[in-house]
Amino acid sequence: MCGIVGYVGHRDAADVLVNALTRLAYRGYDSAGIAAFGNGKISVAKSKGKLKDLIDKMANEGKPLGKAGIGHTRWATHGEPSDVNSHPHSGAKVTLVHNGIIENYKELKNFLIQDGRTFLSDTDTEVVAQLLDHYYTYISDPVKAIIRTTQDLRGSFALGIVFQDYPDNVFAVRRESPLVIGVGEGESFIASDVPAIIEYTKDYYLLEHDEIAVLSPDGIKVYDSHYRPVIKTLKTADWDVDAVGKGGYPHYMIKEINEQPTAIKNTVVPRIKDGMPNLEECSIDPEALRKIRNIFIVACGTAMHSGMVGKYVMEELARTHVTVDIASEFRYRNPIIGEGDLIIIVSQSGETADSLAAMRLAKQKGAKTLAIVNAMGSTIAREADMLIYTHAGPEISVASTKAYMVQLSVMYLFAFELAFAKGTIDEEQYKYYTSKLLETPDMVQKVIESTTETAQKISTQLITADSLLYIGRGLDYALSMEGSLKLKEISYIHSESYAAGELKHGTISLITKDMPVIAVATQSALYEKTVSNIKEVKARGAKVVMICKEGDDVPSDVADFVLKVPDFEECLLPMLVCVPLQLIAYYTAVQRGNDVDQPRNLAKSVTVE
Ligand code: AGP
Repeated sequence: MCGIVGYVGHRDAADVLVNALTRLAYRGYDSAGIAAFGNGKISVAKSKGKLKDLIDKMANEGKPLGKAGIGHTRWATHGEPSDVNSHPHSGAKVTLVHNGIIENYKELKNFLIQDGRTFLSDTDTEVVAQLLDHYYTYISDPVKAIIRTTQDLRGSFALGIVFQDYPDNVFAVRRESPLVIGVGEGESFIASDVPAIIEYTKDYYLLEHDEIAVLSPDGIKVYDSHYRPVIKTLKTADWDVDAVGKGGYPHYMIKEINEQPTAIKNTVVPRIKDGMPNLEECSIDPEALRKIRNIFIVACGTAMHSGMVGKYVMEELARTHVTVDIASEFRYRNPIIGEGDLIIIVSQSGETADSLAAMRLAKQKGAKTLAIVNAMGSTIAREADMLIYTHAGPEISVASTKAYMVQLSVMYLFAFELAFAKGTIDEEQYKYYTSKLLETPDMVQKVIESTTETAQKISTQLITADSLLYIGRGLDYALSMEGSLKLKEISYIHSESYAAGELKHGTISLITKDMPVIAVATQSALYEKTVSNIKEVKARGAKVVMICKEGDDVPSDVADFVLKVPDFEECLLPMLVCVPLQLIAYYTAVQRGNDVDQPRNLAKSVTVE
């Protein structure tokens, strides 16, 4: 989704802004622009396309000069991607960039048109620029004008603003959309996300809803919506610029796949005490766990898929009813929840609009909320009753891999803790499962090494397919959902995941020799059943890739390719098997020549519903 940046200091603003925007490119965008303050005026450069198009344009037409400015990458919502719809947008004395959606922009636009204003673009953002300009004409104090403007806005916004009369300042305000304020020596920054500015500073403030920041080279002042000064707590990122580079890998996605063993270690090890999980620092109390009636895991996309694995494990070990819900469905279906229920919200970014709305709804209805989040200080993390951070570090590739892996590891930690609290496993089992979870970083490393070559070969067979089916039962089905999503989002090959036993109730009619099937069969109790389903698709001509455990007896006529993972504790096998599924998706997309890290139409952080 859109990314915003801003800079005030001693450097060339345009260079800093373009550099920072490059680090936000992972969020997904279709146009870019900057504005800088120099020679007594604000100059703007903007262009449809990638940052390279903006850079080329500035090389030909000149770049905005100055030591203060704002920048933007746009992911189109109101109006097609075009030069004119790109941000920044301006009024007479105000220029701004915006991340979010203004829901009442039409009525505001009508008001401004009646007031004699004209518009160049189709965007909701230009309405904000003109509205702020309108109020600034009457209220010459920029902070007061911002406060007055935000009172009229409905929806979500993070705004970076420059005023013609304040050449040494950048202003910022936010509601719902994320924004951080970077604190440097003799320079200050704004950004949608810390990675954008990590090269310049690790220190930052988190802006709360409706707070206004005034940046100058000498420092930062923050005010609340009543214009009262606010004292902010300084935060420091615990990772550095290397974490947001490719580190010698051709794509972020493959780098992040390789970072998974470390990510699991960072997430799990600090939560183990005396051989057992201890989630006290996350405000999770065993006594409260004992009283939970129902659990709902609510999330979107890959994060939701981690919940599917969590459901199988929690129901099996803790004998507690778990429902997994897509956040955009949950929030509008008047869910039957209340006191005694626990809602687990899973989100890498911690800013996903539907997941956030689902969490707020659950709170309103009296349920307790637990967030499993990767991005520190994000809105979901801040608003949840209980919080388990995953420590994957920044995930840049749009296709989520290491974040999914650590979400799985937290699902297990929580399931073990819940089962022990409920008395459905004893201390010996509790310690056994925990010790196995602690082995997963090494096991995942082994699987990366042992399956890469086979995954590459398999993907060579898939690149010409139009459509694919992933099948499995139980945990293997839960995992297949993620395998299928991963493949389709980056390879652009249609794929579906299906419960293997359900095929013959309709979907098997799709099977022909041109429909490859990836069958996951790692659960001993279901192995024979899944093999029978594989035989059914094989008999109808499908080319079959089978993923199973070392030592499994695979009948010779069942699969065209067999990929084996180590024989390990079965409930933890999704953490191993997701690796070859990620690799198959990655190499298929690479061989098809796709933009692996920034697939078409997708954004990393989905801050609009
Ligand atoms: C998966 O590769 C995607 N990036 C997507 O499905 C993602 O998991 C989903 O949009 C949820 O995002 P979140 O974890 O930031 O809430």
